[in-house]
Amino acid sequence: MTQNWPKHDMSFLSGRRLRRLRQSAWSRAMVRETELLPRDLIWPLFVIEGQNEKTQIRTMPGVERLSIDLMVDAARQARDAGIPALAIFPNTPDDLRSENGAEAYNPDNLMCRALSTIKQAVPEIGLIADVALDEYSSDGQDGLVRDGEILNDETVAVMVKSALAQARAGADIIAPSDMMDGRVAAIRAALDAEGFEHVQIMSYSAKYASCFYGPFREAVGSGSRLKGDKRTYQMDYANSDEALREIEQDIVEGADSVMVKPGMPYLDVIRRARDAFSVPIYAYQVSGEYAMIEMAGAAGAINRDAAVLESLWAFKRAGANGILTYYALEMARRLGN
Ligand code: PBG
Repeated sequence: MTQNWPKHDMSFLSGRRLRRLRQSAWSRAMVRETELLPRDLIWPLFVIEGQNEKTQIRTMPGVERLSIDLMVDAARQARDAGIPALAIFPNTPDDLRSENGAEAYNPDNLMCRALSTIKQAVPEIGLIADVALDEYSSDGQDGLVRDGEILNDETVAVMVKSALAQARAGADIIAPSDMMDGRVAAIRAALDAEGFEHVQIMSYSAKYASCFYGPFREAVGSGSRLKGDKRTYQMDYANSDEALREIEQDIVEGADSVMVKPGMPYLDVIRRARDAFSVPIYAYQVSGEYAMIEMAGAAGAINRDAAVLESLWAFKRAGANGILTYYALEMARRLGN
């Protein structure tokens, strides 16, 4: 039976009703402000030694470290799904990690072999190479350490060598994720001097000292080594003016694109950066964000598939040009259909 509830007098609205646009699917589609497309998604991958090897990451259910041969298959799938680029991170064997991080610039290191093999097999996909020492050093810090201090200029010298090795191996984009001062300018100058003018730099410009990197550190094997924290180089989460200074500095130093990281807790920073700068801005939906969605989904607290979509869309709304996300392949396929 149809109820006849009394109506409130709505004349104060003067006819302005915002629900009018939301009444039907066609109208919602017509007024939609942003899109999420496969080309917005960059896929981070963890590489390990071996043949036909994959290993589980306890805190990232559904993500596996892959040997280079399996990563080539993954790269083909990503290309076919419309993903423009991969971001590669090595899990360096323990015996090659050292205090001076020298494995970072070994031209035959795991990272360089992954880059050259994938570049050859799947030349259509962009390869983003992470540059930081935590993946090669024995103490899990992104820089060289002396008496507990993270050294800046000495670290930059190692990173420059690491970036050159990666460029020679076929990296299309060098992505320094360490937050040392001056590393973008130093890497740009070295790339140009060696004939790599065409290699881009995507700088992790506004990277916060965050608890949300925990699962990543398990994935690359640096977590158990890390003593202390990264707060003398990664940013204080209380700040966002400072993020704009970091981004501005990296643009001045020659960054082609910049990143804000982590993602969802820092949407305000993405929006401020979008309003202030015209460079491409990328968001990184980091490992801890992935773990939260997976685990809350598995516990039945949220609808996992809906959460993935909503969380990624939020980055586009905030103004990001693209998103590094462990959901890239799955979502590129979902969005493509
Ligand atoms: C290393 C690096 C980290 C991440 C990307 N590059 C970890 C850290 O800075 O401790 C985190 C990515 C993630 O959590 O998904 N410099």
